[in-house]
Amino acid sequence: MNSATGDRKLLCTDLDGTFLGDDESMYQLVRLIDTRHILLVFSSGRHLQSIMEMERDKGIRHADAYICMVGTAIYFVSEGEPAKDAEWSRIISRGWDIAHVREIAARFNELVPQDDEWQSEFKASFHLTRNRDWAIPELRRRLREAGIQATVIYSGGQFLDIIPTAAGKADAVFYVARRFGIPPGNIVVAGDSGNDLDMFKAGLKGIIVGGARPGLASFEGANAYEAEGHCAAGIIEGLRHHGLIGPGDVVGLSLP
Ligand code: GLC
Ligand code: MG
Repeated sequence: MNSATGDRKLLCTDLDGTFLGDDESMYQLVRLIDTRHILLVFSSGRHLQSIMEMERDKGIRHADAYICMVGTAIYFVSEGEPAKDAEWSRIISRGWDIAHVREIAARFNELVPQDDEWQSEFKASFHLTRNRDWAIPELRRRLREAGIQATVIYSGGQFLDIIPTAAGKADAVFYVARRFGIPPGNIVVAGDSGNDLDMFKAGLKGIIVGGARPGLASFEGANAYEAEGHCAAGIIEGLRHHGLIGPGDVVGLSLP
């Protein structure tokens, strides 16, 4: 794990539609955060293996930590390899009953289960494209009545995740930052859709990249900078806005 000083900064970024989508800006962003010694945390709906493949494909370094499967699994990089944090799994298991969650969700015809690889003991994921206005509140109501501590997250106009209330991207990034000894004021988060919303609601300094989905784009808060640039270009713009990089830092647009 990287050593941290009191004023070290941490960028926690979503992948699809945020960090990914514009390679040239993405490579430039990685160089900027490395020059500035900013810690890099990826936070995604994907599992670790898929994120590792992405890093290999793009030829970029490991992040300093990974928040996977919508804040339900955390990995810190130790001796060059990501290792799962067992304490996080223990924390989010309170009041959680995946079998009961799946049983309740199965009663909704609208909820079409995603492939097995996107399911876990802490994440039940579906596609939902019809009857949303009825199904989402009704699902929340039935979970609550069953006494399950669950959060229902809708993203990108199609993905529905049910995760433990103690999990989620916001609580996960607070946990990761604490482990690095970084105060919440030194965290900057970046996202583009509904599963990023809790990080903004938690009051963290944030960047909503250009072209964000309605579930996040409508968020209004002084802590959220709405970038014009899409994807990594928007993150660079937001890092400048939040003072993590200076105007003169953005030079040289060549690929590595
Ligand atoms: C990613 C995951 C999927 C999840 C979605 C929204 O696409 O693969 O399981 O539902 O993010 O969080
Ligand atoms: Mg996204």
